[in-house]
Amino acid sequence: MPAPGRPSGRPAPTSTSIRALRLARKGRRRSAPPAQANPLRDGLRLERVPDPCAIVLFGATGDLAHRKVLPALYQLWRTNLLPRDFLILGVARRPYTKETFRAEVRASLLLRSRTGVDDESLATFLDRVSYLQGNFDDPGAFDRLRETLDGCEREHGTSRNRLYYLATQPSAFPEVIAQLGRVGLSHETSGEGWRRIIIEKPFGHDAESAVRLNREVGRVFRERQIYRIDHYLGKETVRNLLVFRFANGIFEPIWNRRYVDHVQITVAESMGIEDRGAFYEETGASRDVLQNHLLQLLSLVAMEPPATFGADALRDEKVQVVSAIAALTPDEVASNVVRGQYGPGWVAANPVAGYRQESEVDPDSETETFVAAKLQVDNWRWSGVPFYLRTGKRLPRRATEIAIQFRAVPHRLFRDTTIDPEPNLLAIRIQPDEGILLRFESKMPGLGLDIRSVNMDFTYGSAFSVDSPDAYETLILDALLGDASLFTRADEVEKAWGIVTPILDSWIATPPARFPNYDAGTWGPPEADRLLARDGRRWRRL
Ligand code: BG6
Repeated sequence: MPAPGRPSGRPAPTSTSIRALRLARKGRRRSAPPAQANPLRDGLRLERVPDPCAIVLFGATGDLAHRKVLPALYQLWRTNLLPRDFLILGVARRPYTKETFRAEVRASLLLRSRTGVDDESLATFLDRVSYLQGNFDDPGAFDRLRETLDGCEREHGTSRNRLYYLATQPSAFPEVIAQLGRVGLSHETSGEGWRRIIIEKPFGHDAESAVRLNREVGRVFRERQIYRIDHYLGKETVRNLLVFRFANGIFEPIWNRRYVDHVQITVAESMGIEDRGAFYEETGASRDVLQNHLLQLLSLVAMEPPATFGADALRDEKVQVVSAIAALTPDEVASNVVRGQYGPGWVAANPVAGYRQESEVDPDSETETFVAAKLQVDNWRWSGVPFYLRTGKRLPRRATEIAIQFRAVPHRLFRDTTIDPEPNLLAIRIQPDEGILLRFESKMPGLGLDIRSVNMDFTYGSAFSVDSPDAYETLILDALLGDASLFTRADEVEKAWGIVTPILDSWIATPPARFPNYDAGTWGPPEADRLLARDGRRWRRL
């Protein structure tokens, strides 16, 4: 069956015919501009259309499903990137009917769709949304799921291709996975369509539980069916990091210990924990951001060029980076990792509560809302170059940035200048104000020889003037197309826990001496500044 926007009567694309379609479209582009006429498609990969399929969304009434997953699916639908023959089957505990669920989805889309909604695409999208009530620990619910899916698939012609999306509490992952296996919903028998599963983060709680979860999911699905999501990898600016490094020849020769003094990676948020107190109490900044988003960014910055752009080649190189980071001993944790928790303060001129005053948070909580760490990538390229990572809630502003700080010039030539030249800096702004800045020294106009730092600044907004897709759109589309490049492999996630778990273990043994230790609206505890000051460095002001 055709996808919307395609002339009817044409057979649905299979994975092989997509390649042909892509080639045909590339060819077509030479003579006539492609679907650019539709501004909603700008910035998206126009040529890719997944197979007909059913998306089974576990945790369909939850925050993640409504904030991210459903708006992303709607956007893909609206821009003709989903096949006409698809359905979304929401599965959750709430005793909803199909109609109540659809009404809730509709309300979320009206509120959240990043390009608004139009009546026609909204109506056709909702026609494909259905609901099944069930408890994840109830085997009967999964028997009903199998029957419901069979029925829906006949009705919607989805060719028995299925994508399971686990947007539930992480504690429900093992149960859902085991039940899918028990009722035979994971098997791919030839000619029966594909079965894939997207698993949200955090994947495990520590090294041991991640290995256990990998084992559990591995009993039911093959690795090539498993898509562990870290939405940072779907961000345009993060994907551009690969292009920046490997589609430009001039950076690679200086991307190493000879020229780079150190690297800073910051994921700063001004917001607090919002209404996720219970989740955050168990997670903290290390599990929520360090183990995944920050280590992913570090891997992309530090990895070797992969031989191909295929999922395995890319992920092999990322694993090499994480493997080269030695696990810290308790003494090293004490001197190289700083934890913090925010107290009451001011953010954007508004008074805000401290972490311990947030709802669902223990008034004596020792959960960290800030972490800064100095890590070393012990390999030929990076030996001796510190990577300073930091993340925190309730910092003064939202900013994610990778700063490559180059070494100072080896010889001071301009001795009469009043100010020492600053070393060069390359700042890759992931968000907001997405772009890349290069700082270099320049002579100030005048008869003397004064030197000042100036910036060359590329911003996405002005260079391309199109909206970027949301990370979830990119990643869900990739999973539907069977492209796992931007998803985390089993070994990668275990290695990342291998770095974070010794930190967590050592903190259990030594409770924080003074929590809260930073005021909301400041850049974290003073110890974070001292971590760099001790090496004669300082955090970049963002
Ligand atoms: C999520 C974390 O993975 O990432 C949140 O659970 C955090 O705590 C969020 O706020 C940050 O994502 P983004 O895309 O807003 O930078």
